[in-house]
Amino acid sequence: MIQVAVMGHGVVGSGVTEILLKHSEEIAKKVQEEIYIKKVLDLREFPDSPIADRFTKNFDDIINDDEIKVVVEVMGGLNPAYDFVKKCLENGKSVVTSNKELVAAKGAELLKIADENNLNFLFEASVGGGIPIIRPLNQCLAANEVREIDGILNGTTNFILAKMIKDSMSFEDALALAQQKGYAERNPAADIEGHDACRKICILASLVFGRHVYPDSVHTEGITKVTLTDVEYASAWGGVIKLIGSVKLTDGKQEIIVAPMFVSEESQLSSVDGVFNAILVKGDSTGDVVFYGKGAGKLPTASAVVADVMDCVKHQNKRRYIFWEDADSSNILPFEETKYSMYVLANADDTDSAFAAANEAFGESKKLSRTNSEKNELAFVTPVLTFADFEKAVEKFEQSGAKVITNIRIAVI
Ligand code: HSE
Repeated sequence: MIQVAVMGHGVVGSGVTEILLKHSEEIAKKVQEEIYIKKVLDLREFPDSPIADRFTKNFDDIINDDEIKVVVEVMGGLNPAYDFVKKCLENGKSVVTSNKELVAAKGAELLKIADENNLNFLFEASVGGGIPIIRPLNQCLAANEVREIDGILNGTTNFILAKMIKDSMSFEDALALAQQKGYAERNPAADIEGHDACRKICILASLVFGRHVYPDSVHTEGITKVTLTDVEYASAWGGVIKLIGSVKLTDGKQEIIVAPMFVSEESQLSSVDGVFNAILVKGDSTGDVVFYGKGAGKLPTASAVVADVMDCVKHQNKRRYIFWEDADSSNILPFEETKYSMYVLANADDTDSAFAAANEAFGESKKLSRTNSEKNELAFVTPVLTFADFEKAVEKFEQSGAKVITNIRIAVI
């Protein structure tokens, strides 16, 4: 029998204990050992839980218990999760987490501590919830040179955008609905400002390219400024707006970004609906591989956590090789050098002469039109430019008297 502890009994934590209890026999058969939940850490009371007597409010009950060999961290947030996880790894306990904030901020350090102590630190559930992606990247696709990953990594924003696209719902109403359905994070800013997707693409980039990418070195835009007008122009262009986390190698540097983008309806990512996530991995041998499924929610996420616990049990005293080095941001392509074609929405008294000015400033652009457009509205798609050149072109364009209202990148995926 192997004894485990679960820190946190929220949405994911309660799913972890539910699966471990419900599937205990099948799990024991698969790992050839019974997994016994010895302690559950939470500050709240859960008198109706079938294991109510094993709850504790005191972390010392876990860290000082030498029989506990695997600890699940599903509390979320950086503190006290970081401190607890570090102590567990320093005290002979493998750790499984779903906490993307923790892995994105402290992954390199925690992996090193795990390595030094011959323990496992696994985090399959931190990206894509129930979708297998960490293990496939680390194992099944290991023979490939992965050059690019593009993903819809946040279910809440995908749900909001899908409601805007399909039901013409405003951003505010769609966010309220996502919160009602319990999809959004406690603080919706993490979802709608792109921070959650940023943490996830940082984890994937670190894993694939072997150097820790910290979230604050990644240009991140959320979806708060996306309007129904933009949605209509995306449709006129031949696609939809999606929040994309993307990393690729450009001139030996990592080009990494999180931003809303126009995605062509021919791309596999364009049809990803509701709270679903999809991750497109471009391998040199495999070509495109897409991972699709539920990126959030109690049981999908808990399923990935429990599978990691099972992996720890099967590999006691043996490391699952998963590692990346700590690194500074010198390997990240400066944001100003990233190149995209841009959708631009502008206001101008005379839209014909403003479009002529746009062609002059940005290079030959493609005008977009929609039904019921406002009289002074001009929308177009620029050629591919570096962001530095795009900003210079905006300045030049606005000298014509036109005013840029918004701009959104065009994804090539
Ligand atoms: N708030 C996250 C999402 C939860 O919407 O995808 C899963 O990380």
